[in-house]
Amino acid sequence: MPSALVLLGYLAGSIPFGVLLTRWLRGVDVRQQGSGNIGATNVTRVAGKKLGAVVLLLDALKGALPVALAMRLLPGQPLAHVLVGLASVLGHVYPVWLKLQGGKGVATALGVLLVLVPEAALAGALVYAAILAVWRVSSLGSLAAGATAVGTSALTARATEYAGLSAVLFALMLWTHRGNIGRLMRHTERRF
Ligand code: G3P
Repeated sequence: MPSALVLLGYLAGSIPFGVLLTRWLRGVDVRQQGSGNIGATNVTRVAGKKLGAVVLLLDALKGALPVALAMRLLPGQPLAHVLVGLASVLGHVYPVWLKLQGGKGVATALGVLLVLVPEAALAGALVYAAILAVWRVSSLGSLAAGATAVGTSALTARATEYAGLSAVLFALMLWTHRGNIGRLMRHTERRF
């Protein structure tokens, strides 16, 4: 059962909503425009706020739903919940349908943490919104949100495994944002 849920998490996470919706509704390949990322930030750049919001919601749901199912079916097994959540985010970052060239995992991690450590997800979302409002740089907001989620999880998570997952997801975000981090340091990062 846990391995089936981990597989389900991966397969759900690997659905590339940003690519599919921009192709179906706008006739463009989001991977060829803007930053080339398939996530909600670049979908907003390429296809507007409404579609960006839809992709944000769907990318978060594909993280939240498998982990919510795991919590329901495997109560008291935090390690299983964490593995399912991690599988969803890895599915988004390394989707089998896109030759393992996926997104940066922020919205999907948000969905996972909303279920496992809601305080951390909400604190991260607030920090993201504040940074976006001031500087209009999504990657900076995402990285600050990830760091905030780690700190909040350490204080509030109901299981050590959940706090550990926040740290692992932040480490993964640092990896997926390595190009963004380079541009931030050179002051050449794209604004939203
Ligand atoms: O969630 C991704 C965001 O942090 C950065 O996206 O398109 O600016 O590289 P982008």
